Amino acid sequence: MSQTILAPSILAADFANLKKDIEMVNNSEADWFHLDVMDGVFVPNISFGMPVIEAISRHATKPLDVHLMIVQPERYIKDFALLGTNILTVHYEASTHLHRTLQAIKAEGMQAGVALNPHTNISVLKDTIQDIDLICLMSVNPGFGGQSFIENTYEKVKELKQLISEKGASTKIEIDGGVTNKNAKQLVEAGADVLVAGSYVFGSKNPTDTIAGLAKLTQ
Ligand code: DX5
Ligand code: ZN
Repeated sequence: MSQTILAPSILAADFANLKKDIEMVNNSEADWFHLDVMDGVFVPNISFGMPVIEAISRHATKPLDVHLMIVQPERYIKDFALLGTNILTVHYEASTHLHRTLQAIKAEGMQAGVALNPHTNISVLKDTIQDIDLICLMSVNPGFGGQSFIENTYEKVKELKQLISEKGASTKIEIDGGVTNKNAKQLVEAGADVLVAGSYVFGSKNPTDTIAGLAKLTQ
């Protein structure tokens, strides 16, 4: 088992003390910052956008994994590249010309990710998987932190792992939503490479220890 990438979701951080939470992640065993951008159209919630990410980017010492929950994400690829995004993930359900969007993300020097809603079958990515650096399987319906993990995700991870190996691709599998110490190990055993955790980390008494606990469980 290779080392699992841990990506705390800043959506659950204290926005009035963002610098403190960024430094906590910088000094923890976490690997990436997961940043959720919501537009109130693709999902029924609005989170934060460019100015906040710009501020985070000035303090973060680890890669920025930006998850766009917005319609027509292709409109903002250049902007997110300029903000220092390392991995830019768009939703399959929000992308009419996904192949073109993936090429445009890579042309800006970022890794290209695609997120799938819980109801979307992984077979829709069969023809693009070679071009995708990361597939984010939503294990809750996107839009809010703190929701319960959907159990069917384990099955989906296994199926996706199989598809990746059949196609000889090197795509990473990321799991987003409801990740805790109860499901982390089983997700990694099923084939997950990246775990996003928001409320489990920031809602805990000692987020640094919580991250260390997840790291220990999944190495
Ligand atoms: C949900 C977001 C998630 C969210 C995860 O729409 O994409 O990244 O922040 O939060 P938890 O870990 O609390 O489910
Ligand atoms: Zn997310």
